[in-house]
Amino acid sequence: MPAFTAHAPAKIILFGEHAVVYGHPAIAVPVTSLQARAFIRADVRAPRGQVHLLAPAIQLDAYLEELAPHHPLRRVIELTAERVGASYLPACQITIQSAIPVASGLGSGAAVSVALSRAVAAYLGKSLSAEAVSEIAYEVEKIYHGTPSGIDNTVIALQRAIFFVRGKPIQPLHIQCPFTLVIADSGISSPTAATVADVRAAWQQNTAYYEALFDQIAAIVSEARAFIEKGENSRLGELMNRNQSLLQQLGVSCAELDYLIDVALRAGAAGAKLSGGGRGGNLIALVDPSTSTQVAQSLKEAGAGGVIITTVR
Ligand code: MEV
Repeated sequence: MPAFTAHAPAKIILFGEHAVVYGHPAIAVPVTSLQARAFIRADVRAPRGQVHLLAPAIQLDAYLEELAPHHPLRRVIELTAERVGASYLPACQITIQSAIPVASGLGSGAAVSVALSRAVAAYLGKSLSAEAVSEIAYEVEKIYHGTPSGIDNTVIALQRAIFFVRGKPIQPLHIQCPFTLVIADSGISSPTAATVADVRAAWQQNTAYYEALFDQIAAIVSEARAFIEKGENSRLGELMNRNQSLLQQLGVSCAELDYLIDVALRAGAAGAKLSGGGRGGNLIALVDPSTSTQVAQSLKEAGAGGVIITTVR
């Protein structure tokens, strides 16, 4: 029986989260050591068009038509079929697995959408461009997040570092010299939709104050881009610390993240910040390859979960 598999990576925001929702730039990179996977197997004995969906991580075992019309997985399948001009999906079983923790700032929702869209297109005998898959995932991000900037679906579909400005053509980012990060999970589940909505409410109350913070974040993102493109990675740590301070002022950090960031800095990280929506989820710490193990170990001892060391290239 024909079978099709597609993968998509996790992502981190290096600089510029939240401000990016308001049209400011941000920098994001894929994290290939964490992947979402969609596997489709044709079921020739099932009735025409019967699609059986299994996603063990969210205890989902259902037929497609049983899902609410706006269920994210249903929308991905339908939008992908529409995009490739198919009126229905031949009977099959779809299994979704993901090593990316949910509500942790690593783009789990967008990664599942991208992997599923690619697998569905392949099952229908088509291939979609990264841009087309990103657009489909963006439609579904709106269900998860309300007002997403589009950075998560873009970096995950492109699978490469990007300098991103909402509504502008995608700008791949050239990383002159690879650098090492420790990614660590605070263990606090924090849906991005909630922090994005809170920042919006605060911005509506006190627009000038928040715009000033966004402008400072935008300046950091531009500086970071220049350093990354010139290979001056040692300059990035201080920028991460400044970005984190502005994220605290936006109200999207929390005591646990602040504590773990402090642990990483004391253990020798050159800089550290939350990554993604904040108020939980993951932090990133810039490390020298020689201090990476020490920083990772200190974070684990301080209670962080899912600690990984990754090279950004
Ligand atoms: C989420 O990864 C990044 C945020 O800026 C939200 C968005 O850009 O859609 C918090």
